[in-house]
Amino acid sequence: MDIQMVDLHGQYLAIKDEVDAAIQEVLDSTRFIKGPVVGQFECDLAGYLDGTYALGVGNGTDALQLAFMAAGIEPGDEVISPAFTFIATAEAAALLGAAPVFADIDPQTYNIDPAQIEALITPRTKAIVPVHLFGQPADMDPIMEIAERHGLTVIEDAAQAVGARYEGRKVGFLGHMGTLSFFPSKNLGAFGDGGAVLTDDADLFEQVKMMANHGARKKYYNEVVGVNSRLDALQAAILGVKLRHLDDYAEARRAAADRYDALLADADAITTPHRDPDSYHVFHQYTIRVAPEVGRDALQAHLKAEGIPHAVYYPTALHRLPVFTDMPGARHGEMTATEQACDEVLSLPMHTELTAAQQERVAEAVLDFVNHRVRAGV
Ligand SMILES: Cc1ncc(COP(=O)(O)O)c(C=O)c1O
Repeated sequence: MDIQMVDLHGQYLAIKDEVDAAIQEVLDSTRFIKGPVVGQFECDLAGYLDGTYALGVGNGTDALQLAFMAAGIEPGDEVISPAFTFIATAEAAALLGAAPVFADIDPQTYNIDPAQIEALITPRTKAIVPVHLFGQPADMDPIMEIAERHGLTVIEDAAQAVGARYEGRKVGFLGHMGTLSFFPSKNLGAFGDGGAVLTDDADLFEQVKMMANHGARKKYYNEVVGVNSRLDALQAAILGVKLRHLDDYAEARRAAADRYDALLADADAITTPHRDPDSYHVFHQYTIRVAPEVGRDALQAHLKAEGIPHAVYYPTALHRLPVFTDMPGARHGEMTATEQACDEVLSLPMHTELTAAQQERVAEAVLDFVNHRVRAGV
């Protein structure tokens, strides 16, 4: 049985005719940069997310950097984010000279714990970057309330959570800006790199557009130092097709998550993902927590021997990475939940084409090990 972490080929085959036609249209037009296909996708994306403006950019890391540039992040500023995330969340701010400040996570959701944020705010703090990790919305209301009280910009890193809903509202437009990644394995994945910046604020959108266009609003009239970051038309065409299927993709992922939940329900040593009744989790990852007496690393070795794909997102929290431990100004609060998560989490295969039989095989391998270890009292 061929089980994969992500089945890009299967997903492509299911919509091959639509995708191939959309690609052919771009090839026939030879409008590879900007043009109507990109504009249409940006419009459709903003509409899908119930927001106003979306700008397609080169990737999710660029999207974060452009949002930070538009927010006026400068050397000496501080940006608060979780440390249990992909490097890009903090890297993009650090690249602009800002110091990353890391807050601990909620151990249930793996997202930034709003209660940890306020103690980290100083006069240098400019922004808060909640990450909707694994497809689960961060607790946005208290974050927005704190930001408002302190005059801070909130940039949602929604790279893993396109289509997720927090109290009925789609993430990405809940903060002042939001960012997406269209890396192929993401819930809305391109056939290459891509990303987007989202906002309801016309002034911020103008800033983002200018920054992404070499700091120019008018051709050959550059006002500030910017970058060149664009979503190309081939990727926009593919993404436009996939956007039409995104609701079905989310439902497929959620159904797969339900199946895993049921299969693993009796294993006391395994904690399945938390479900907030007010949120719509889109399961970019299905991430379990393995009790220390069983041992995440030992389970990993077992799965490897059994040929079951798996991954650890993330083995090292950002505040422990050399890039940040050595960075002047970088600091963090108490990080107990973050460090525990790094030691205990394990992500199982999750994608839109996953079958019940494949999931049963994955769960069987997990349970064989866990039950044996627990029985043996190891
Ligand atoms: C949480 C998070 N932020 C940012 C990014 C960066 O996106 P990209 O790889 O498109 O630059 C990713 C992608 O891996 C991510 O998972």
